[in-house]
Amino acid sequence: MSKIIVVGSINMDLVSNVEEFAKPGETISAIDFNKYPGGKGANQAVALARNNEEVYFIGAIGNDENGFYLKNLLGDNHINTNGITIKENIPTGTAFISVNSHHENSIIIVHGANYALNGEDVIKQKEAFKNADAIIMQLEVNDEVLIETSRIAKEFNIPLFLNPAPSRKIPEEVLMNTFAITPNESELASLTLMPCDTIQDIQKAAELLKDRYHMHVIVTMGSKGALIHNDNDSRIVEGFKVEAVDTTAAGDSFNGALISAYLESHDFMEAVRYANAFAALSVTKNGAIPSIPYKDSVMDFLKNI
Ligand code: RIB
Repeated sequence: MSKIIVVGSINMDLVSNVEEFAKPGETISAIDFNKYPGGKGANQAVALARNNEEVYFIGAIGNDENGFYLKNLLGDNHINTNGITIKENIPTGTAFISVNSHHENSIIIVHGANYALNGEDVIKQKEAFKNADAIIMQLEVNDEVLIETSRIAKEFNIPLFLNPAPSRKIPEEVLMNTFAITPNESELASLTLMPCDTIQDIQKAAELLKDRYHMHVIVTMGSKGALIHNDNDSRIVEGFKVEAVDTTAAGDSFNGALISAYLESHDFMEAVRYANAFAALSVTKNGAIPSIPYKDSVMDFLKNI
């Protein structure tokens, strides 16, 4: 069992199922509506916990019903929640998600307490980092949090995994301190300002990141699988074909499973194959956290293909 620190967001996901997304100025009816626990940080923490890892979560909630429900749910998933700060007068994060009949999603995030988490909150948790095997963060927290976390990773020499989602500019210092980055194709394009329409494009963009920041680059490409690009390798590990219902949290499932498997084998090939399977199973269920599988079911799936 490895210890992983997750620094990230916690959201209540309000999910409407629609036939097609609303066009500008249009009002449409939803087919269904559900509330699910989510947030990229929380999803990745649960994915790690469902891979039987020790997880310590650093994040923030509001002093409200959603916040306490989500914090308890993380605790029920065997995640240490001592690093969650309660922010007064700021609501817990909310994500407004639409899922269309092609199983695509479109998301609007109200960051709320997630963006009120600050550098001091991270520094207060420094003790918890000391015996950690890895750190993972995403971009649903502010720059100060990213920078402080990356400094601690460097100081304690802990591999920092960065999932650069949702896409936005990342401070250079954070990228310099990153061990492995896991963009999807569009995040890679916006990080490098290079086209990422073909595999050759993606390899070139990944090469730029690798050379500039000396990091491992793992590009997720949905059902096509993922590209591993580092000093030893540049290859695609194919994905698995499944009946998709909802792709929300597929990327988060991939990231949690990737780190867990990598810490076990120190082999990105093996880790990406396992993460592809883990993410594939997550798209067969609705919602974010409720869709994240357990290691046992993924091992069974891999045995039977
Ligand atoms: O990656 C999926 C997540 O993105 C959702 O759970 C939602 O909360 C948004 O943060």
